[in-house]
Amino acid sequence: MLSGKCVVVGVCGGIAAYKAAYVVSALKKLGADVRVIMTEAAQQFVGKITFQTLSQNLVVCDMFDEPKRWNVEHVELATAADLMLVVPATANTIAKMANGIADNMLTCVYMATKAKVIIAPAMNKNMYESDATVENMKKLAQRGCRFVDADEGFLACATTGKGRLAEPDKIVEAVIDELAFEKDLRALKVLVSAGATREALDPVRFITNHSSGKMGYAIARAAKRRGADVTLVSGKTALCDIDGVNMVKVESAREMHDEILKRSANCDIIIKAAAVADYAPASVSENKIKKTESDMSIQLCKNPDILSELGQKKPQGQVLVGFCMETQNLLENAKSKLVRKNCDFIVANNLFTKGAGFGADTNTVTIISSDGETFSPENMSKDDLSHIILDAAKKRYDEKNIM
Ligand code: PMT
Repeated sequence: MLSGKCVVVGVCGGIAAYKAAYVVSALKKLGADVRVIMTEAAQQFVGKITFQTLSQNLVVCDMFDEPKRWNVEHVELATAADLMLVVPATANTIAKMANGIADNMLTCVYMATKAKVIIAPAMNKNMYESDATVENMKKLAQRGCRFVDADEGFLACATTGKGRLAEPDKIVEAVIDELAFEKDLRALKVLVSAGATREALDPVRFITNHSSGKMGYAIARAAKRRGADVTLVSGKTALCDIDGVNMVKVESAREMHDEILKRSANCDIIIKAAAVADYAPASVSENKIKKTESDMSIQLCKNPDILSELGQKKPQGQVLVGFCMETQNLLENAKSKLVRKNCDFIVANNLFTKGAGFGADTNTVTIISSDGETFSPENMSKDDLSHIILDAAKKRYDEKNIM
């Protein structure tokens, strides 16, 4: 995702410096050319060799180190950077950056670079909330620096409050956001559904299915990375919320129906990857249903078909993408659903294909278009597949909305 991009990582002296090692490693795995600068204080917390090994580049610390080749090093780094990331950013370095003090390699590179700058602060709660730090951060934000705000929690100084470095994955996601994708979905509202619904029988039991939510979450994340304004209506999953996506949590098909329908009219693209229960128990017992000596049966009643309703109400210019999970006659059933539910595309997956469908990190699908075209990409990660689905949806959106 980041190949061909140069990320200059400035590490300051704080206990969270060790977490910067994870960030550097993750950026490297994504293909970035990572160049690390450490302040003198940072070297008290983590050894230079750690960053050198993880970045596979020489780490720069001192302005007056013997150069490894002839160049003006801070200018070279400042120019090479596609993005500069300061992690963890201490109160001291933030103050220098805000006030034009360039007395070490990190602050010199910051002043000299024209690249986008991301700052991930970490410090004691009182330092974080101090007037000086708040003012300095405001100044930097006004100048275009992006902040990955500190989290609340237990701090190394044995206090609790705001000041913990944000989770490394969140910091990496901010870099991906800035560098990895063309923002071709900017200004588009994308609504995605994901995960399984739960239909309660009593306060203890429910009917559900095996959807993990991975497919829908991957689509929402990909759309967000491409600049869309994304809402994800999610059934129960074990997945983490996606930063920058408007998360709406639901349990039952009825709740999913209500949350989707109240937003659908304003959306440009809707992608329904959720596995929705077709039926729910006709009544929900207030108390736990007790076991008896006899067999029992449960009466089920039909849930609303959300996709069908969206198809019926589809405004002009909107693109509607359904999924379908089958165990037999995949294409025949998928084509019939595409037409019945008035979708622009249906993405068909088969439960019995290895590395596809429920729970897997990969999927094998056939994408069927309402204009009769079918496309079967090879088995691939749900992340990569999401971009193919979004490409198709964006193309159709552009065709429908030619000025
Ligand atoms: O979540 P994962 O573990 O990553 O797995 C992904 C997935 C297999 C769940 C996903 O790829 C998928 O196929 N989702 C749709 C599963 C499904 O419910 O298929 P269906 O053929 O029953 O439904 C067809 C379409 O109608 C779906 O878009 C579904 O969201 C929608 N539907 C179904 C019933 C209903 N009452 N309302 C609906 O909107």
